Amino acid sequence: MQKANLKSLPAATSVVINAGQLVTFNNPKLLGPRSGVSMSDLGLINKGYVAIANGRIIGVGSMGKLKKSITINRRTTVYDACGKLVTPGLIDCHSHPVFAGNRANEFEMRLQGKSYMEIAQAGGGIKSTVNAVRKSSPQKLYENGEKVLNEMLRCGTTTVEGKSGYGLTVKDELKILRALKKLNEKHTVDVVSTFLGAHEIPQEYKSNPDRYVALVCDEMIPAVVKEKLAEFCDVFCEEGVFTPRQTRIIFQTAQAFGMKLKLHGDQFHSTGGAELAAEFRAVSADHLDMISDEGIHLMHKAGVIPVLIPGSIFWLGMEEAAPARKMIEYGLPVAIATDLNPGSSPVHSLPLVMSLACIEFKLTPAEALCAVTHNAAYAIERGDKIGSLAPGKLADIVIWNAEDYREIPYWFGKNLVCSVIKKGHEVYKN
Ligand code: NIG
Ligand code: FE
Repeated sequence: MQKANLKSLPAATSVVINAGQLVTFNNPKLLGPRSGVSMSDLGLINKGYVAIANGRIIGVGSMGKLKKSITINRRTTVYDACGKLVTPGLIDCHSHPVFAGNRANEFEMRLQGKSYMEIAQAGGGIKSTVNAVRKSSPQKLYENGEKVLNEMLRCGTTTVEGKSGYGLTVKDELKILRALKKLNEKHTVDVVSTFLGAHEIPQEYKSNPDRYVALVCDEMIPAVVKEKLAEFCDVFCEEGVFTPRQTRIIFQTAQAFGMKLKLHGDQFHSTGGAELAAEFRAVSADHLDMISDEGIHLMHKAGVIPVLIPGSIFWLGMEEAAPARKMIEYGLPVAIATDLNPGSSPVHSLPLVMSLACIEFKLTPAEALCAVTHNAAYAIERGDKIGSLAPGKLADIVIWNAEDYREIPYWFGKNLVCSVIKKGHEVYKN
């Protein structure tokens, strides 16, 4: 007797159906971070579905092929997108979500003519947030971080990179990193932690900054690594903050301890930050508004991802913005992020930041979307797990109250998020 050739179809535990426009960024020929025209390859499917089993994507395609490809049974949870836009969950690849208080007073001072750097040099700026954080209990810091992540989730963010850097003592840096770890364990949004002990030179070390660099290297980094509190080490390399020489010392130590590197560089002055990030093969170099042509060339050669920060350019009224078009055309895979922090970029919303990126950097809406999904995933070394809707990746998905992806940056300041699905489960509904 001939055996029936019935290959059983994979069964979905949940499925998103009737996506009017489904942006996948799924293209097996375009693996790795994207630059140039490939940033605009949206992997668009009209009338599409995403099938999920146990938190991971098992199939993506057009509705016409759903029944032939996937088993849907009584136990499958069905999310009907009703013709709306569906995209990958957004990834915020640079933020400072654990802090205390706010700096609305400094905002007013800036409006009256004081510059960000002048306020910082007069004892405000990062230092005023440091004072507030040092006084905060671990529980209070955790709760502050929770509120930040709730708001980010509401705006479509499903993974966030979070930095320390408002403690600047061993005890207080660990306090922030432990709060980030607990947020990663408890909150719906996934958190990737970065140690940024070298965010500012604390007041008590101003007369001898090298002694603080020694504290970062000899005590903080070993303690962070021992408790497995951070994957990345970051330094704010800037005039009046950490010099390239000091940044090098911290990077050498972090690398020796097995940490991956990130850099705040070339934000206000061209200090060779991009060149340094390339020398150390950092995963990303961030801000880069004053990057040199040589810096672009060296980052490209070394495979460093530029993370651009439209929020701080807008909020600080900067005249120079990173040469994003030049970078993209040169072959750099541009990512963008909120840099959410209480001083230079108090913004939670990646969609709003996409609007700013289109205006400031002349990114197209497609490039801006790639920069907060596919490329942002690579900027935190998660490109194999998130950032696109492809089989095998986590089912982190946003359904939008929109029909076309260009509406995301177009309706600036409006929250178009309809529903957020994290690892296959609806976690937020508007
Ligand atoms: O990432 N660039 C330097 N530091 C922060 C600003 C932090 C603050 O002002 O509190 C940033 O932009
Ligand atoms: Fe930052």
